[in-house]
Amino acid sequence: MCGIVGYVGERNAAPILMKGLQKLEYRGYDSAGIAVHDGKKVNIYKAKGRLKVLEERHPSDKISGTLGIGHTRWATHGEPSELNSHPHVSGKIAVVHNGIIENYQRLKLWLEEKGYHFVSETDTEVAAHLVNHFYEGNLLQALQRAIALLEGSFALGVLSSDVPDTLVAVRKSSPLIVGIGQNENFIASDIPAILEHTRNVYLLDDGDMVVLKKNRIRMYNSLGERIEKPVFNVTWDADMAEKGGYAHFMVKEINETPKVLHDTLNPRIDKDGRFSLSEISKFSAMANTLKRLFIVGCGTAYNAAMLGKYYIEKMARIPVEVEYASEFRYRKPLIGKGDACIVISQSGETADTLAAMREAQRCGAMVVAITNVVGSSVSREADEVFYTWAGPEIAVASTKAYSAQLMALYIIGTELAFRVGGIDEDYYRELLTALTAIPKQAQTVLDNVARIQQLAAERFNAKNVFYIGRGMDCPLSMESALKLKEICYTHAEAFAAGELKHGPLALLENGSLVVALMTQESLLDKTISNMIECRTRNAYLVGIAMEGNIRAVETADDCILIPRTVECFAPMLAAIAAQLFAYYISTHKGVDVDKPRNLAKSVTVE
Ligand code: G6P
Repeated sequence: MCGIVGYVGERNAAPILMKGLQKLEYRGYDSAGIAVHDGKKVNIYKAKGRLKVLEERHPSDKISGTLGIGHTRWATHGEPSELNSHPHVSGKIAVVHNGIIENYQRLKLWLEEKGYHFVSETDTEVAAHLVNHFYEGNLLQALQRAIALLEGSFALGVLSSDVPDTLVAVRKSSPLIVGIGQNENFIASDIPAILEHTRNVYLLDDGDMVVLKKNRIRMYNSLGERIEKPVFNVTWDADMAEKGGYAHFMVKEINETPKVLHDTLNPRIDKDGRFSLSEISKFSAMANTLKRLFIVGCGTAYNAAMLGKYYIEKMARIPVEVEYASEFRYRKPLIGKGDACIVISQSGETADTLAAMREAQRCGAMVVAITNVVGSSVSREADEVFYTWAGPEIAVASTKAYSAQLMALYIIGTELAFRVGGIDEDYYRELLTALTAIPKQAQTVLDNVARIQQLAAERFNAKNVFYIGRGMDCPLSMESALKLKEICYTHAEAFAAGELKHGPLALLENGSLVVALMTQESLLDKTISNMIECRTRNAYLVGIAMEGNIRAVETADDCILIPRTVECFAPMLAAIAAQLFAYYISTHKGVDVDKPRNLAKSVTVE
């Protein structure tokens, strides 16, 4: 993954690059570096570790120069080290890169034969040497010739020491935007990096190249032809990407859930009080002819998809297949004309999800994206887009975006179910009313945080945690366990409660923590039996159940209660409780909550 940023203008570049990189640290944070042109030459500053190490070692306010590029890294080729961190240099050329150059080994041999000496273990260094190799005074041409040889994904920012006023960049299968300023211009992997300086951006497409000077932006397509693009105006606020008084982004984002659910739901209710799916009208028109629905995603988005399957199959009786995007893309899936595929991606840039989407389209299926980022690759390539209006999500572990994905699936599922006659008008109305109450009920879960905090304080030392659930609680248990793995480094597993005795029960020992999701009351008896089986093996039982579920309270050693709603929507509220539980365990364990080890927010490599 990695984040890149670039600046050309009249101000000192280094502080702008550093602040931009801070906003991109969610993309990777094992090392960082910047290259700044001081008018005569390019100076390089690098450090292993977080950005603050770089800032401590090379204070940005002491670095002069009005042109620069910066990079925050998530290692793919070569361990995190100063040598492997970007920018990479070859002759006059300095390069930052996000993505993976797949044919770098072949190119490396070729370049070595030509006398180039490699100092790092990265794939990126190939790009630096190639641009240098083709450079004869015209940076754009050199970049064009270099990328013609590159296979894989790359967003590149390039400088040359003999051109003190120009920055060139290219985007192929890795995100890159251009920020338009007054006597200054920017490039960045993502909008928050430049939002402090401008709200006007160009969204580059695959293959696009850009040449930036302080008062000129020229864009070219992959054929080298000049192109114009509409200016995209960013409407959301910079402070939505700031912590706003919270200790961590993650807890801030969980606390934004009521608003996010409201913002995702309300624009989809029309003046007659019915769901409107106008954004995905072609897809909804297929409701009655749809042969099969596929839903693909990675990580948390996959877990949301699983919950969507339970709901859509139950209500609409349409067969739904859920798959990891990384599997779907290579599996030659049985998908084709007459089928539809929903891809779910918070960032809209996950490499596997993008590839799965392209595969579904190639096979003739209609593709709908549920994504959070306007202008992301997924949003631009899908046939139709249903946005989750969650605002920027910075913490690596997804919370509010997951909630918004569930809301999106519930809206789509309910409308589909009505159209195919799976539910009648009265039930449709009942479901719609229940969904409308959810944002307020989400606030109630947040207001009752003290109980969850206390439980986390008592149980944070648990070595093994097992989440169990039946029906729609089953996919929720997968997401709940994932949260614990991601931000607590605690071994956590999720099991369909009924599967326990087919193996997992052997793992239970004195003090194991079992969290039973108990929102599916039609299956309560069964879940309680499974909990008792765990108690017999000396496990400690925590339940998450709807208010008034006395048997849940009686069965569990401790029980977190959420407001009462229609059974199938209860996981949306229980999810918030599970997220908070993981968050507070993480803080007790002293884990870097927002940036857990080895992970990154946006996975734009395979
Ligand atoms: C990474 C993140 C996860 C996220 C997954 C899919 O692994 O750490 O939180 O669920 O990518 O991301 P997407 O942006 O496609 O939803």
